[in-house]
Amino acid sequence: MKLPKIKILDEIDPRLHKVSEPVTFPLDEKTKKLIDDVLVYLEMSQDEEIADKYDIRAGMGMSFVQLGILKRIFVVSEDNGDGTFERHIVINPEMISHSEELIYVGEGEGCLSVNRPVEGIVPRYARCTFKAYDVDGNEYKIRVREDISIAYQHELDHLNGILFVDKIDPKNPYKNKDRMREI
Ligand code: NI
Repeated sequence: MKLPKIKILDEIDPRLHKVSEPVTFPLDEKTKKLIDDVLVYLEMSQDEEIADKYDIRAGMGMSFVQLGILKRIFVVSEDNGDGTFERHIVINPEMISHSEELIYVGEGEGCLSVNRPVEGIVPRYARCTFKAYDVDGNEYKIRVREDISIAYQHELDHLNGILFVDKIDPKNPYKNKDRMREI
């Protein structure tokens, strides 16, 4: 399989700090194709050999704004560990509830738009429920937990023009670490 050609914006691009617009249905074919391409890209990026070959970093989620398209769409592809992936296509998402418990990625969050090492952690809800639309415009609800919960919150931030690095206080990058659970 060939790696889909997509261009991912770097954090210096001001578009990454813009709020994306709600999507209207039906989606056009171009948008549907791009959703598919991004999912394939993410899945290929999670294969170490392929990532090496193409010199790309592994990612499990991406928002359309990272491609310079200011639409409220993100995708997440979750490795099931058996060569298959769970695909999440999330359009016009809203977080409708969340846990009290906070978690963070111990090794630090990553983002395909942030091409440098970043010190620090980002508090995220351990579990949350989202309302969103699928590619056909059907509304659905999904409850996500742990790393997928973090991925959803990270991507939702993208749609609101926020990068994970914006949420880290450089003077205190591990703030409140003791009050959260590391994953
Ligand atoms: Ni990101």
